[in-house]
Amino acid sequence: MVKPSVFVTRRWPAAVEAQLIENYNVVLNTEDKPLSPAEIQSALKNYDAVLPTVTDRLTAEVLDVPSAQARIIANYGVGYNHICEPTARKLGITVTNTPDVLSECTADLAMTLLLMVARRAGDGERELRAGSWTGWRPTHLVGTKVSGKTLGIIGYGRIGQEMARRAHHGFGMEILVYSRSPVAPKVLAKNGATQVNGLEDLLPKCDFVSLHCPGGPENRHLISSRRLDLMKPDAFLINTSRGEVVDEFALSQALMFDLIGGAALDVYDGEPRINPVLSQCDNLVMLPHLGSATREAREAMGFRVLDNLSDFFDGHDPRDRVI
Ligand code: DGY
Repeated sequence: MVKPSVFVTRRWPAAVEAQLIENYNVVLNTEDKPLSPAEIQSALKNYDAVLPTVTDRLTAEVLDVPSAQARIIANYGVGYNHICEPTARKLGITVTNTPDVLSECTADLAMTLLLMVARRAGDGERELRAGSWTGWRPTHLVGTKVSGKTLGIIGYGRIGQEMARRAHHGFGMEILVYSRSPVAPKVLAKNGATQVNGLEDLLPKCDFVSLHCPGGPENRHLISSRRLDLMKPDAFLINTSRGEVVDEFALSQALMFDLIGGAALDVYDGEPRINPVLSQCDNLVMLPHLGSATREAREAMGFRVLDNLSDFFDGHDPRDRVI
């Protein structure tokens, strides 16, 4: 039997690439160079499956390739707001993602950011490496206590729940949740969480706010200047979801004018380009989209794509079908 042809847009963990080679007629991106829209279109035209990741932009124009061969886009990553959903639906292309296997590691990173910004870890490291540390003193780089504080979680899917678990059971934090749909009382009770009705209700009550909602047009600039104004003047914002969820200019103003205590970001609108105003904010911790960047999570994400592909080519509905 002829093996299906599969095109992978970026370098993947070696163990996963080895398995792909065994199972499929696969083209790997050994140079790991980001692809142009025309190269992605050519992959859609000529391969049975295209395996993009969260940095490839599969817009309506890119997807709409005349007589495309690809019937499945098996995405490496949980977020799929980079794939134009209405067009994929219209064209009848199956789209899958990789949930669950990165939830713990992404929540670990959100907690890392929360602790870094509260305890001024970025400031401390910069000072030390610059050779300007003059030694311990009672007033040096004084941060904010985390334990026992109130954490607001926006978006209570798998990653939001993992964040709540760490914060509540590890740091004794009180958890408030905002989610569009009602969360089952049993699910909230696991982490002592309370669901509130609106962001306007949640933001003024929290010492920390962590974003775990999807990106896409619906959530673009969900955190606007008006909503930043609702936060306590010493509260911190953490974003490991998608850059577009935060109005970055409004955030930079809130940070520069001390309207909030600080922020910590792992994701950026239009990344890897960073809005230069953000780099000017001292009370901001910035990491380069590392949420799922552990060996364990990245391998598991790849194997999850393999599961989705074998479901699809065996004629079943893939376990992680999102479109
Ligand atoms: C995702 O999977 O959506 C992350 O942003 C990258 O792990």
